[in-house]
Amino acid sequence: MVVSSVYDILGISPSADEETILQAYRTRIKEVHPDHGGSLTEFKRVRRAYEHIDSGAPASEFNIATEADYTTTTQSGDTEPTSTSASSSSSVDEADETDTLGPTVEYLDYEILADYGWKLTDPDLFAKADAVDLDIDTHGIFVVEPRESLLEAAERYGFSWPYACRGGACANCAIAVIDGVVEMSVSTILTDGMVNRGIRLSCIGQPVSNDLQVVFNIEQLPGLKELRLPAEQFGNTHSNDLS
Ligand code: FES
Repeated sequence: MVVSSVYDILGISPSADEETILQAYRTRIKEVHPDHGGSLTEFKRVRRAYEHIDSGAPASEFNIATEADYTTTTQSGDTEPTSTSASSSSSVDEADETDTLGPTVEYLDYEILADYGWKLTDPDLFAKADAVDLDIDTHGIFVVEPRESLLEAAERYGFSWPYACRGGACANCAIAVIDGVVEMSVSTILTDGMVNRGIRLSCIGQPVSNDLQVVFNIEQLPGLKELRLPAEQFGNTHSNDLS
């Protein structure tokens, strides 16, 4: 594919509306993820293209070269222009890219497990999810920015994960961490047994490891179901209780 504009990177026309842009981004970011046969460089370029379009900046101001081609990261975290020559892109340090990419989260909706006869404890749960054509709201990947909770990151990508209190007190936003490490900023309503089983609260959970696999929408899980405070007690909620 010849890439001649920021729109080509997402495979959309310049007149695409907001929803089309977001859907194209979600599709492309999954296609180019390193775990799905893509590369970190392409992954970053797709994300950069989406952020550029989303910011409303003119398409002509977008640098088509990959991020690795034209930037270096200073100690303060700022980016500085460097050579755009082919030789510079061939010397990409993949480890440095991983450091600057931010944690990536592969997510799966718990509600889909029953449809396929899968279990949370299946060791190949995400491989099985990869093998079927699931909707992007159900299965996909997003990147968590610094200081974001998993819930905030999911919402930034336009997903409607359940929540109620947003403060670690109700358990409506619970997720199961299948792979990776998520830390919570305060002690919560969860029991020690749940925490030991990998249950976390997405509203106050932040990634510690660079790659995560999580199952969201688990509020109906036995144990959690009884523990949850009704979403109706809280003002600004999104919960299956209310749908
Ligand atoms: S929304 Fe209540 S614990 Fe996260």
